[in-house]
Amino acid sequence: MKNIFDANLDNIKKAAEVIKQGGLVAMPTETVYGLGANVFDAKAVASIFEAKGRPAFNPLISHVENIDYLYEYAKTDDRVIALAKKYWPGPITFVLNRKDDNPALDLVCAGLKTITVRMPNHKIALELIKQAGVPIAAPSANASGSISPTTAMHVYESLGNKVDMILDGGQCNVGVESTILDLTGKNMVLLRPGGITKEELEEFTNEEVLVTSKSPDLPKSPGQLLSHYAPNIPLYMNQNNRNQDNQALIGFGNMECDYNLSKTKDLKEAAANLFAYMKAADKSGKFKSIAVASIPLDGLGTAINDRLTRASYKK
Ligand code: TXA
Ligand code: MG
Repeated sequence: MKNIFDANLDNIKKAAEVIKQGGLVAMPTETVYGLGANVFDAKAVASIFEAKGRPAFNPLISHVENIDYLYEYAKTDDRVIALAKKYWPGPITFVLNRKDDNPALDLVCAGLKTITVRMPNHKIALELIKQAGVPIAAPSANASGSISPTTAMHVYESLGNKVDMILDGGQCNVGVESTILDLTGKNMVLLRPGGITKEELEEFTNEEVLVTSKSPDLPKSPGQLLSHYAPNIPLYMNQNNRNQDNQALIGFGNMECDYNLSKTKDLKEAAANLFAYMKAADKSGKFKSIAVASIPLDGLGTAINDRLTRASYKK
């Protein structure tokens, strides 16, 4: 049976319940359909990566229906507020510095010190977020490597029943993903072009907008820009025992350790805990290094191993 539902208020309420209970809902936005989960539910966020079949974790956009989340979780300044007030709701996403270290948001933020937020200009998405009572983390609702969906049927063709509900809001009218603007530094940097142009942004702010591909010292695409999270102390992967003094052991499965990614070897649970545990071990002050048990290379295990490889100690 197709899991596509007409986006009337009843079905939006049902979808909001799915979100609250940790499920996945594909929602229309003005740009493309998003594959949504509760931003604060790391296990639900892990299932987004699982459903997309992504071999790596990327930071996700938090979709909001009011500006309060920004004040609470991001560092804001006059420029951020002015841009949000001017363009939201609308097809522009801001990369901002995180205000706190809420571990619930670590997977959404891929362990980075930045948080990425947008307010979609779409009645159905806004109503869903409002009914769910939480911001919704959502990448484009397509399997990794295929193109972004602009109809409910595209989502169904790409993800099938890996998503609990697909809300059908017809065709997305913008059809290309949002502009992504990095506001974490002194200069604004355009990470992804979209509906709102560089020229428009420059005219509104009276400031130059740098473009990643034009500056030799700036990386070319969002994926490349990510300075991947790595602990300050050395991390060794594929270790099932401690092999140094004062070493934290992050375990997997039924074993003695300081932090257990998942006692039952549930990869979704492990993905949900990964960043928070790496950070906790790093910051505790008790440890000089971190050992992480081996994680199988199937399903979400691929993304977990990818991230551990990036975080691991290289001489
Ligand atoms: O229009 C859109 O933006 C759609 C709809 C669903 O809102 N969403 C979307 O999400 O395109 P996604 O995950 O497919 O693309 C977001 C891009 C990714 O390339 C990600 O790496 C980048 O934004 N990104 C997110 N947070 C970032 C950050 N903190 N720093 C750099 N790049 C970031
Ligand atoms: Mg995408």
